[in-house]
Amino acid sequence: MSTAQTNYLLRWGDKKDLWKLDGYRLQGGFRSLRKALLMKPADIVAEVKKATIRGRGGAGFPAGVKWGFVPAGDGPRYLVINADEGEPGTFKDRALLTEDPFRIIEGAAIAARAVGLTAGYVYMRGEFLEIARKFEEAIAAARKAGYLGKSILGSGLSFDLFVHLGAGAYICGEETALLESLEGKPGRPRLKPPFPAVKGAFARPTVINNVETIAAIPVVLEIGGDAFHRLGVEGDGGVKLFGLSGHVNRPGLYEFPMGKNLKEFIFEDGGGITDGKALKGVIPGGSSTPILKPDEIDVPMTFDGLKSVGSMLGTGCATVIAEGTCMVQVALRVAKFYAHESCGQCTPCREGCAWMASTIDRFERGVASLGEIDLLLDVARNIKGRTICPLGEAAAMPVEALVTKFRDEFEAHVRAGGCPSVAG
Ligand SMILES: Cc1cc2nc3c(=O)[nH]c(=O)nc-3n(C[C@H](O)[C@H](O)[C@H](O)COP(=O)(O)O)c2cc1C
Ligand code: SF4
Repeated sequence: MSTAQTNYLLRWGDKKDLWKLDGYRLQGGFRSLRKALLMKPADIVAEVKKATIRGRGGAGFPAGVKWGFVPAGDGPRYLVINADEGEPGTFKDRALLTEDPFRIIEGAAIAARAVGLTAGYVYMRGEFLEIARKFEEAIAAARKAGYLGKSILGSGLSFDLFVHLGAGAYICGEETALLESLEGKPGRPRLKPPFPAVKGAFARPTVINNVETIAAIPVVLEIGGDAFHRLGVEGDGGVKLFGLSGHVNRPGLYEFPMGKNLKEFIFEDGGGITDGKALKGVIPGGSSTPILKPDEIDVPMTFDGLKSVGSMLGTGCATVIAEGTCMVQVALRVAKFYAHESCGQCTPCREGCAWMASTIDRFERGVASLGEIDLLLDVARNIKGRTICPLGEAAAMPVEALVTKFRDEFEAHVRAGGCPSVAG
């Protein structure tokens, strides 16, 4: 039986005016915050732990466990909501920010109550200028109504939220580069440890969570951590937003319980491949996640499910690629992106990403030799595990998978002296 769509998070289709404070309240908005204000902070963290909600930014670290790492103590402690959404193929957080902003504000205030946070920053990529302006209006409305600011709803909890716009660099989605950027410095990742929970923004304890992780928190408190967990699978609870784009008949944003089958998602909910073509490959969760061939997609969309076939759930936004697409061109597009976005701090990433892009370009132009296929794999493998932040892996893994799984196409480019699909 196929897994049906749910609407815990993706609910603006039938619930009108959620983006207005009154509309949000009409749908029971801020009930979870009221509940949280009557709970002991440790009990809120315990509910989030029970929910087993794994970070929706891509790394999949359990939110409750992360919250538990913040040491007790006085002084400023921050929440940072990661709204950078730079991963190519991903378009879920912008929808939440635009359509259901008060959910995020409510989730942030609950996090503040649970962990003892004094202020929060919503870090948005620079291209989200319009979204940022509207989100600031939502913050102002929430502040005026007493859901943010001094002594929220008379509870004694003081917490405020601010929007910070980045300048559109992909690396600023990486949590420590984001913190540097937030502090007004160039967005270059930091060495860890110390981890942000201990020494984060402005050298203070900081919780960093993705927009969708925070948006799910009011749901956790509303239905309870156990019930949220049961919606998903063991160790990977709840529901999640999933995106579908590329050569698919019904692209868009969907919500399912964790564990939805990827093949079913594409062929049933997504209506299959455009123009009746055959499927060639699926990039399951953003451009950094290794491509899967058609015989590898009969898997549950969970963090462990995608890992079991050598890929990753990533952001949960899949790109579907039909027969007839040149995989060397796909590899070139991906490699160029990461070469452009490398911050340049580590030699293997800075030099390796540029090398991968220029070598793939040689195949596309028909000047590469067969020996360069293994050279490409060698460069990719020498980036992995030798960098400060995971951008190195994010660049190397998709290239390695594309070259390994579609090696015949790289060979065909050498034999044809260029792209056979362009040559006709
Ligand atoms: C290169 C790179 C880019 C990233 N971009 C984003 C992003 O745009 N949004 C996001 O939420 N997390 C992004 N992450 C993951 C964050 O570093 C971090 O794990 C996440 O914000 C934590 O929130 P979560 O635990 O709720 O997922 C990125 C990681 C890397 C290595
Ligand atoms: S891996 Fe790349 S992006 Fe990350 S710190 Fe090193 S050079 Fe910068």
